Amino acid sequence: MPADTTAPQDAAAVDPNDLEELARRFEAQAAEVVSAPRGEERKRWEALRLDWTGKKRGRIRELLARMQDVPADRRKDYGQAVNRLKRQVEARLDGLDSEIAERERVAADRAAAVDVTLAGRRPTLGSLHPVTLVVRDMEEIFRGLGYSMSEGPEVETDYHNFEALNFPREHPARDTQDTFFLEDGLVLRTHTSPVQIRTMLHRPPPIRIICSGRVFRFDNDLRHSPMFHQIECLAVAEGITFGDLKGTLEAFIQRLFSRDTGVRLRPSYFPFTEPSAEVDITCPFCRGRGCAVCSQTGWMEILGAGMVDPRVLAECGIDPDVYSGFAFGLGVDRVAMIRYGIPNIRMLFDNDERLLRQITPSVAAV
Ligand code: DAH
Repeated sequence: MPADTTAPQDAAAVDPNDLEELARRFEAQAAEVVSAPRGEERKRWEALRLDWTGKKRGRIRELLARMQDVPADRRKDYGQAVNRLKRQVEARLDGLDSEIAERERVAADRAAAVDVTLAGRRPTLGSLHPVTLVVRDMEEIFRGLGYSMSEGPEVETDYHNFEALNFPREHPARDTQDTFFLEDGLVLRTHTSPVQIRTMLHRPPPIRIICSGRVFRFDNDLRHSPMFHQIECLAVAEGITFGDLKGTLEAFIQRLFSRDTGVRLRPSYFPFTEPSAEVDITCPFCRGRGCAVCSQTGWMEILGAGMVDPRVLAECGIDPDVYSGFAFGLGVDRVAMIRYGIPNIRMLFDNDERLLRQITPSVAAV
């Protein structure tokens, strides 16, 4: 029969005069308290205590209340027997109380104990984002070439982002498709090229700067994110030639990818450079043999470049008859995708730790 110390039925079935039998019942119930599942003992003990010694309806109390029904000649014996039972019950309940308290203490100690044999938990450290890693590599290369770091605002004026860079008013890059227009003629910069303007307006040549940062375009698919990163390079001094541009590009690209990376320049158009070029590198996946990533061409377009347009120099107060310069700009995210084999640009910005951990598994905290 399941332990049920709250139900007094079986005790009710016992002749109240048979106190020895009652004492045995109590002992049986007390034994069930200690054998209760862990954590349940206290509840059972409390029920048992109420059932037997409860002030209102406890069994002992009921036994005493029956005193007047007992024939006068047996009353004294009866009273003494009930008192014996009462003391026995109370002593046992006290004993159980200490026993349960001791068990609770042991259980609490065990729960709080430190298992010194367990392997330690390593604190999880942060790591650098793949885009940051690529930017740092690029900055390191240019630092070695004598360039300094520059920066500009992400919220730009139309003047710096377009006009001073010689974008005609009807140029598609100003189109609402590409540009996030803000109020008061401001835009979210669509490229890092406005930093060229800010630098040239700010100080005279010789200038050798790079600038990396966020840029924004109204575009969103597997290869485009509305926010991405560019790095911009500008060199202005006397006698800078297209050969300097090509040499710098080769030095930069071969250090960034590998010594045997081929560099190819194709004629192109940008409003702020003349001549302009689009720059391809031999596909890093197939090393130029042709694969699915490079559409079997063996080449991959990586950046835009050119000689700074004389009109841009003049706009910034630099005499184009004395000075010349080159500039180029490239998408940092694309380089990170190529380097780490990431197929979708948005994976870079989802901040899914599983991706970040694969790329920089053991980088120290930053
Ligand atoms: N700003 C151009 C773009 O976002 C990239 C670019 C092309 C930058 C030619 C330059 C450059 O500095 O000379 O597509």
